[in-house]
Amino acid sequence: MEFALFAVIAYLLGSIPSGLIVGKLGYNIDIRQHGSGNLGGTNTFRVLGVKAGIIVTLADILKGTLATLLPLFFDVEVYRLGIGIFAVLGHTYPLFAKFKGGKAVATSGGIILGVSPILFGVMVLTFLITLYISKYVSLSSMITGIISFIVSLFIGDIGLRIVIAALTLFVILRHRANIKRIINKTEPKITWM
Ligand code: G3P
Repeated sequence: MEFALFAVIAYLLGSIPSGLIVGKLGYNIDIRQHGSGNLGGTNTFRVLGVKAGIIVTLADILKGTLATLLPLFFDVEVYRLGIGIFAVLGHTYPLFAKFKGGKAVATSGGIILGVSPILFGVMVLTFLITLYISKYVSLSSMITGIISFIVSLFIGDIGLRIVIAALTLFVILRHRANIKRIINKTEPKITWM
């Protein structure tokens, strides 16, 4: 019963469309009408700039982290991860934005931060190194998922590994359009790094 309650709260938390809120309130711009159209941190950076991009990315991470902290009295990692997954689902299929949300990257990272800050640190490092080399945010997001799964084989338990494998698969599926653009060489590269 508690799990269902926390799962609903986590879904609603994940559903808060930070990119939409920051865009509309701060800039009177709906980022879904610009750039890649994705309701995530990357498109916020692209459309609204660094300040808004950082705010939205941090807010999206926080949604996942807070969800894993909801069950304060159940310190079972897999239970907290399970609740975190509902925040990722909320972020990706938000109730408050016609079920069209982001690509699950930042909020997935947030739930890992909630249960394993060390692994989250590895993920941030992997992401930055891959981004520096490739200049593709999408590719860096997918590679970060794959590397985090490999690292979880060494530092995580079976529950963490299964959740990371599922999230990474989900992130890759959400990037199908990006993968096509990378192959066609039409995926935009970042220019500031
Ligand atoms: O986090 C999403 C990112 O990996 C790609 O976003 O807007 O370039 O499709 P976007």
